[in-house]
Amino acid sequence: MVAFAAFARTAAALAPRAAVVLGSGLGGAAAAFVERAAVPFGAVPGLVPPSVHGHGGTLAVGEWSGMPALLFRGRVHFYEGHPWEVVTGTVRTAAELGARRLVLTNAAGGINPALAPGSLMAIQGHLKLLGPAAWRGLAAGDGPVRPYAARLIEVMGAHERTGGRELLAGLYAALTGPSYETPAEIRALAACGADAVGMSTALEAEAAAALGLEVAAVSCVTNKAAGIGETALDHAEVLTNAALAVDRLGALLGALIRAPY
Ligand code: 6GU
Repeated sequence: MVAFAAFARTAAALAPRAAVVLGSGLGGAAAAFVERAAVPFGAVPGLVPPSVHGHGGTLAVGEWSGMPALLFRGRVHFYEGHPWEVVTGTVRTAAELGARRLVLTNAAGGINPALAPGSLMAIQGHLKLLGPAAWRGLAAGDGPVRPYAARLIEVMGAHERTGGRELLAGLYAALTGPSYETPAEIRALAACGADAVGMSTALEAEAAAALGLEVAAVSCVTNKAAGIGETALDHAEVLTNAALAVDRLGALLGALIRAPY
């Protein structure tokens, strides 16, 4: 608690307006971040240490390309057995520390054939298939309609075009996990219009939008989903392919942090 109080004072002095959550194996995307203070998730009220390999579990404050920013290295997943209040703890912490914009990232499997390993996708909508937890905490009739800010999707597209690249703005299917999907499940998700699949982001995006934060989210496609590619999936492959896209992701995150508020 004492460590968090000191951290919160440093954060208040820097006054970050953006918070970034870096997912599995994507820590290298923060090369432009200069850290001023950090605390482990376990020291943050409302957060717990993550248990998954590749998720650091620290909250830092510093400057990203000269802009003050909060950086969550890692996140807590629903499949780790935590209720949705804990999964979205990062979001409330970001809002309490003054953030107005939340940028979520994740490692995802590609369903759309255009998404080769190493591609990025701007999330423009999601299918929230995270089980009953997704509904708890919402009153009947509550509903996050469009969590992802169209303006920030445009910022991402424009940034990528400057580099001569196209950026797909697509639909992210968020499943409970922790195991990957069967080929039949991926066919079903494809029929529903999903472009990429993963196990995070959707609950955080909805919680953030409900708190009035401006939300952007990016999937880093680390592998093709089952039945889309030929190779078997494992966590080591996810981490290796994530490394390939981190430089591009880091530049895109910088553009999102710098975009007018
Ligand atoms: Cl194929 N599925 C899910 N649920 N998460 C992933 C993935 C696949 N690839 C990376 N993360």
